[in-house]
Amino acid sequence: MRYVIGVDLGTSSVKLLLVNQHGVLEDEVTKDYPLIQKKSGYSEQEPEQWVKQTVAGLAELLKRFEGSPTAIEGISFAGQMHGLVLLDENNKVLRNAILWNDTRTTPQCRYIYDEVGESRLLQITKNPALEGFTLPKLLWVKQNEPDLFGSAGKFLLPKDYLRYRLSGQLHMDYSDAAGTLLLDIESNNWSEKLCNILDIDPAICPPLVDSHAEVGNICKAVAEQTGLSQSTKVFAGGADNACGAIGSGILADGKTLCSIGTSGVILSYEDSNDKDFEGKVHYFNHGAPDAYYTMGVTLSAGFSLSWFKELFAAGESFEEMVSEVDSVPAGSNGLLFTPYLNGERTPHADASIRASFIGLDSSHTRKEIVRAIMEGITFSLNESLHIFRNNGKKIDTIVSIGGGAKNDVWLQMQADIFNATIVKLSSEQGPGMGAAMLAAYGCGWYATLGACADQFLKVEKTYTPNPVTVMEYAKLFGVYQQVYQYTRKLNEDLLEFRQ
Ligand code: XUL
Repeated sequence: MRYVIGVDLGTSSVKLLLVNQHGVLEDEVTKDYPLIQKKSGYSEQEPEQWVKQTVAGLAELLKRFEGSPTAIEGISFAGQMHGLVLLDENNKVLRNAILWNDTRTTPQCRYIYDEVGESRLLQITKNPALEGFTLPKLLWVKQNEPDLFGSAGKFLLPKDYLRYRLSGQLHMDYSDAAGTLLLDIESNNWSEKLCNILDIDPAICPPLVDSHAEVGNICKAVAEQTGLSQSTKVFAGGADNACGAIGSGILADGKTLCSIGTSGVILSYEDSNDKDFEGKVHYFNHGAPDAYYTMGVTLSAGFSLSWFKELFAAGESFEEMVSEVDSVPAGSNGLLFTPYLNGERTPHADASIRASFIGLDSSHTRKEIVRAIMEGITFSLNESLHIFRNNGKKIDTIVSIGGGAKNDVWLQMQADIFNATIVKLSSEQGPGMGAAMLAAYGCGWYATLGACADQFLKVEKTYTPNPVTVMEYAKLFGVYQQVYQYTRKLNEDLLEFRQ
């Protein structure tokens, strides 16, 4: 039997999947690491923690593995997008990574628009300047920590740094590079124009490769620490959302994904890079060759639930906490939640907005609040779906992955709020499975990623919308959509009180 490993470097943990040549998940290990939030809007992580926990996880996986390590032919990576890892000339980390959900860079986004112009930026990168993207973070370091920026030799994204430490090779793949806001999507290369205008030395940009590209092997030190073989080939991998799409079979026109992890996304396959969504949704390179995807992002999706759980249900499992919502009717007895705990991306690119509970009543108990959070997250994702549908996309079936796909009530809620059939995959592993598939494809096991998906992915269950609940939710969604407008000014007034 032959094997591959898919690594998903997430925001709260790294997940390692050992998958055999038939696509069967043989073993998995998850290792957590902390988020560093020094002030409101800041979100950082120590890159060394990613390496330490991945190496420990791989050692655990290999300890339990009964085959020969040489049978593990390939390893590849999915990673949290946009996070800035700055390295010096000797490839040593210069500062904590600034993550995708860090929103300190509003002034740098304005600066980009002033210097580049909104329409030129959209023309080059297909995307607007958003706080989460890497370029504004680079400019923040340049403007606020100039000495440190002056000693930068390269910048990487999180999984690229992890891959570098496992293989000794520095690269970035196109799907993740697209999320830096420095990739010229037309020429598929770093944008010299943007580097010139913003005075960024293009030499700090790493070499670009395809997601399925073989970039090296496991280095000796890591082989010794983990039990992996040095013969295991290392493949570049991709952005977690691109890999989530691969790992859910979103590999042809018309296919759509709902992924609820720390963030939440509605992602739709695109076969070309020339459609015009006016920057209302992200437009990135796929991890599949010559393909793209568009996507709307809810910044605090699963994060909203874990935030609540940490505060009010710390001793319980997610399953326990969420199981009680079954007895609460759609609409949570008049309680509405907007999930803007760390600002929002789609459809409101607003780093200052914060979350609200509207309609809190003394009769409400914890289960109404939990259900309202789940509904609020799903309403927020429905806003992205609306943008797609308003742009003429016909979306009647959606594959659901992540935390949102682990609970029957939430899956039915998605069907009813999205008014679409929701597909749950068996052995759903999202980005980690996509990374494993990139390794399998890179190893030459399959002629295409599609052929790999046919072998690796199976539908477990579908959820169809209930017409009565669809109507109820459509009414409630109209109320939800008004909350942003009513609370925007209030949140701006509260800004000065935030630490
Ligand atoms: C996408 C985004 C998030 C992260 C989460 O643009 O910022 O979905 O990729 O890991």
